[in-house]
Amino acid sequence: MNDWPNCCNPLEEKTGEAEAIEQLVEDYLSRLTMPEKVGQMIQAELASVTPEDAKNHALGSILNGGGVFPNDNKHASVQDWWNLAQEFVNASKQSSSGIPILWGTDAVHGHNNVIGATLFPHNIGLGASGNLDLIEALSRATAEDVVATGIGWVFGPNLAVAQDYRWGRTFESFSEDPEKVAECGAAAARGLLGSACQNGYIETDSVIATSKHFLGEGATSEGIDQGNAICSEKELREKHACGHLALLEQGVPTVMAAFNSWNGSKVHGDQYLLTQVLKEHIGFTGLLISDWDGFLHLDEDFDTSCIKCVNAGVDVLMVSSDWRRVLNALNDGVQEGRIKEERIDDAVRRILRVKALKRLLVPEGAESKSPATPRRSLASSHHDELAREAVQHSLVLLKNNHQTLPLSREQKILVVGSAADDLGQQCGGWTITWQGTNNSRSDFPHGNSILDGIREIVEPSNGNVTYLEELGDKPDADVAIVVFGEQPYAEGEGDLNHLNFSAGNRQPLESMHRLKEAGIPVVAVFLTGRPLWINPELNAADAFVVAWLPGTQAGAMASVLFESTAGQEQLDFVGKLSFSWPARPDQCCVNFDDPSEAPLFPLGYGLTYADGVQELDSVPEQHICDAPFLRGPKYQGSYNYPK
Ligand code: BGC
Ligand code: BGC
Repeated sequence: MNDWPNCCNPLEEKTGEAEAIEQLVEDYLSRLTMPEKVGQMIQAELASVTPEDAKNHALGSILNGGGVFPNDNKHASVQDWWNLAQEFVNASKQSSSGIPILWGTDAVHGHNNVIGATLFPHNIGLGASGNLDLIEALSRATAEDVVATGIGWVFGPNLAVAQDYRWGRTFESFSEDPEKVAECGAAAARGLLGSACQNGYIETDSVIATSKHFLGEGATSEGIDQGNAICSEKELREKHACGHLALLEQGVPTVMAAFNSWNGSKVHGDQYLLTQVLKEHIGFTGLLISDWDGFLHLDEDFDTSCIKCVNAGVDVLMVSSDWRRVLNALNDGVQEGRIKEERIDDAVRRILRVKALKRLLVPEGAESKSPATPRRSLASSHHDELAREAVQHSLVLLKNNHQTLPLSREQKILVVGSAADDLGQQCGGWTITWQGTNNSRSDFPHGNSILDGIREIVEPSNGNVTYLEELGDKPDADVAIVVFGEQPYAEGEGDLNHLNFSAGNRQPLESMHRLKEAGIPVVAVFLTGRPLWINPELNAADAFVVAWLPGTQAGAMASVLFESTAGQEQLDFVGKLSFSWPARPDQCCVNFDDPSEAPLFPLGYGLTYADGVQELDSVPEQHICDAPFLRGPKYQGSYNYPK
């Protein structure tokens, strides 16, 4: 246990006013009643709480879950978000505690719950780019958008070190390599926190970042979401905590507990990990928040479950709907002596400390800083430009036989597959809705699809683009670009039983075979949240590009796929695999540090134009398994909600 480093570098120290902050926190704390203290520990979900509730119960924070919007309106404007945020803040200031409320949101690839925000590639693509400056810059852009909606807290970055690609959250992981996760995560946190990284205070142009999820979610057996991570403490520390330690060293002031268990013990109830390791050994002084109702996974009895979670060390409970019941459970728990008052005080001190760092607490008599003025829209050419660069940097070229790429612009280009023009599919999960499903083109007002990008490049250059959602008879073209891949998913829904892509998606492969028969060279562009077994598609394509989940500026990839125009520099592929690529459909765990499994392509693989001709021989296809492309049952092996 003593092997855990004490590496926290709290923001309050960086302010140079740590003592004054502690004094302010104590002043506030000393004025609070027990129900007001407990109120600070509740984070209620937008759909279940009104500003009036926040005022009457002196609630500490709210969140909007994925796909929850102001006034239940998916098309809520920036002004609507901003207004609601101000209503909550004003209401909380009129509560008996007078402490301003915080609002947290999952801005995990841009401000993804808000229509019109620029959405960046998901973390798996950013990991492939390895471009830390770019990750910091686009996270800064995310912070700007979040601030523009009046929100001050982001639930990210995600520091999972995903091991088993069946896990439906693999795309939220930067890499299987802990060092890379740490570097990319730290860059993202710097962008969100802005000048707080130097000066401690999180100013009105920046947001509170969260190190999530602590700890071990990337290690669950069979990649089951919310499952059980079976590993030694050494492995947990050296591999899965690597990103968290990097963020805490930077001063990130909030940590979110993980849904998974560690060797059978639910992390949300694990006092050793949450209190002894995180708070005492690592020295974390900020607040620890539960994940969505995670405090209900610990006991069959509702109250007991909440109490166990708080006693394990969780300071803020993120509640989907039953927040009144949680309030009562905690108040009763204190009265009955089941939670010590010191534990409540510790939790509230941590919450107040974070609020002080966000400059929400002010010494008596002083004015609090007024928030930035709202923007009318989130449309920003600067953010789009960052997104375009991120798309270009994240592409990984797996195959480029007979130098099929870059393509000449002056030819007949056939684009095949509905994925080419489907921005919802190009963005993946956590896109406007929780699972990223049920979105249409009009939900992406400033989006540029892969098809758009190809047209913009080819049409002005005397080339010609034909687009077919499905390949018809007698294809006619100089070259075909087949765009295909996974449909959007997020937590739970995205879990798989095996990695065989074509088992349930034969159409792209059949199209490629028919194009080949017609003598048309094929460029495959694969949209995916994880490495999958695609050997048949690799063989069928002349060139194969992994585009991950590129986001709203996916069309920017065309500048890499096509030859530059005279006088322009040719953009090359710079992305490298941040995960080893499987050689078999059942090779679900193929990690660089496990010599027993040989990948098809190793970590760090990625071709470039600069390297010249590199022919890929055909790869074995005998592993095609005809089992249906099964999705794992939601929350398999998980919990029952307490009565
Ligand atoms: C996810 C978190 C997320 C939270 C709020 C949970 O289900 O695991 O990553 O921050 O919901 O939406
Ligand atoms: C919410 C998500 C949350 C999930 C957890 C959904 O209804 O919108 O934000 O992560 O529930 O189960």
